[in-house]
Amino acid sequence: MHNSPILVIGSTGKIGGRIVRRLEENGHAVRGGSRNSEPPFNWQNPATWAAALRGVEVAYVSFFPDLAVPGAPAAIGQLTACAIKQGIRKLVLLSGRGESNAKRCEDIVRRSGLDYTLVRASWFAQNFDEGQLLEPVLSGVVAMPAGAVREPFVDADDVADVAVAALTDDRHNGELYEVTGPRLLTFAEAVSEIAEASGRAVEYAPISSEAFRIGMTEAAGPELANLLTDLCKEVFDGRNESLTDGVQRALGRAPRDFTEFCRAASASGVWSLAA
Ligand SMILES: NC(=O)c1ccc[n+]([C@@H]2O[C@H](COP(=O)([O-])OP(=O)(O)OC[C@H]3O[C@@H](n4cnc5c(N)ncnc54)[C@H](OP(=O)(O)O)[C@@H]3O)[C@@H](O)[C@H]2O)c1
Repeated sequence: MHNSPILVIGSTGKIGGRIVRRLEENGHAVRGGSRNSEPPFNWQNPATWAAALRGVEVAYVSFFPDLAVPGAPAAIGQLTACAIKQGIRKLVLLSGRGESNAKRCEDIVRRSGLDYTLVRASWFAQNFDEGQLLEPVLSGVVAMPAGAVREPFVDADDVADVAVAALTDDRHNGELYEVTGPRLLTFAEAVSEIAEASGRAVEYAPISSEAFRIGMTEAAGPELANLLTDLCKEVFDGRNESLTDGVQRALGRAPRDFTEFCRAASASGVWSLAA
């Protein structure tokens, strides 16, 4: 049990929200770290960082929008320096599997001299019910430049459980936990499971990177479109077509399967909404 609050940067996100709930349930004091928390934390405004880090011993760091963006290593470097200045003892970094820029950010934290745990995650299953892919699921077509590559979708609950273990137990110091689900699925297989669980007519459409870039530019503007297209090119080239034992090593149990995720998401009613 920590006396000082545990700072959760990205506290209202898919993983951060789960971490906050778990820490509070376990009786830990928590400080939220997002643009709407008190004090606010804004990645765009480094002047907000010191107040968020002050008086904190341990912090969870989730970068927004993604460690793949060109400015991420500089921001993580600056945050780490600020954390050292504020007397932080340990950082737990959420990282992305197979991303070269994310690896650079991991190295910055690893070499900072602070205690650390790195949680390097594959694609979250919850992208399909809480993230960018919810709308495509509801529209009936999930169009991705992922061909027939297989991805070991990891459950956000498992990622959060690993992060909470790292935040609250120093036996995880110095560890890199590469976390995946227990099964490799193509996007066609994943979407077919979602269709079955939800009772919705929804299909996967494999599209080219250029078609993805054009569609995303219309939906989210050129900056995010270029980022996501480059990220997809990098991580959907087959490099992540393997399972890892990060969840087992950190928690001593198996990761949750995609079928379980589909069952829970379907029961929540989120896939029953109108498109
Ligand atoms: N999605 C995946 O499959 C996947 C896989 C591996 C790794 N990752 C990594 O996961 C991270 C995202 O985590 P997540 O999915 O849990 O988050 P998320 O659901 O995308 O939520 C984003 C969080 O960031 C906050 N935020 C947004 N803009 C911000 C800003 N300018 N300054 C400070 N906070 C800001 C949001 O809170 P407010 O809006 O309230 O500020 C929210 O708490 C990324 O770094 C990504 O690289 C993702």
